[in-house]
Amino acid sequence: MQAKDRIILALDVDTEKQALSLVEQLSPTIGVFKVGMQLYNSCGPQIVEKINQTGGKVFVDLKFHDIPNTVAAAGKVLTRLGCYMFNIHAAGGREMMNQLVKGVYEEAKLNNISPPLTLAVTVLTSISQSQLENDMFIKDKSVEETVVEWARMAQECGINGVVCSPQEITAIRNACGRDFKIVTPGIRPSWSAANDQKRITTPKEAVTMGADYMVIGRPITVADNPQAAALRIIEELEG
Ligand code: C5P
Repeated sequence: MQAKDRIILALDVDTEKQALSLVEQLSPTIGVFKVGMQLYNSCGPQIVEKINQTGGKVFVDLKFHDIPNTVAAAGKVLTRLGCYMFNIHAAGGREMMNQLVKGVYEEAKLNNISPPLTLAVTVLTSISQSQLENDMFIKDKSVEETVVEWARMAQECGINGVVCSPQEITAIRNACGRDFKIVTPGIRPSWSAANDQKRITTPKEAVTMGADYMVIGRPITVADNPQAAALRIIEELEG
């Protein structure tokens, strides 16, 4: 995969104007743009079509978690919308993921389009070991064991990959093999500020550990020259 296609730019902005300005500037340099709850809830689904028209692919980061029928129906809508990848919570269970995968493939076939990549979120990286035990009542497993088990379950259901912390890449790669997609945030080039990210990894380290895609936001979006920052990351990945 080309370095350009490994970068997913987090469009953590409120308005269509700000989002499309970043896409226009960066679509020659970056392959995928992430629309999360902030932008999606502010602009609606047409933001996906507008980014596609501006030359970018879209990762819809809404982390679906609901009954199987509802999640499958929402997955069909994102498929028709032309989204490139989207995510769900593995905690929704096998039936939810099985129906989602079936729905996405059927909808893509019906419309003669490519199915989007489906990604599972396992344990959110904001959840600590003590929260796993006390808030989620998972008392007999470590965070890493839980992450790996849910990643395996997602893979068995036909989900294409996971979103995970850089710390979890090696364990998931070993458990799920080469073809399972790994997307990781928490990325900081050595020359940029950590902001509120605690355990950070450079783009090169993440790829060396086995990541397929990296979600990167502020190191590019708040740089004086976003395009130069993106190019510098690509050069480091290729070098
Ligand atoms: O600006 P920054 O590079 O920190 O943006 C990272 C993006 O990845 C944000 O959209 C954030 O919500 C998302 N993310 C994250 N850590 C996670 C999961 C998602 O930073 N564990």
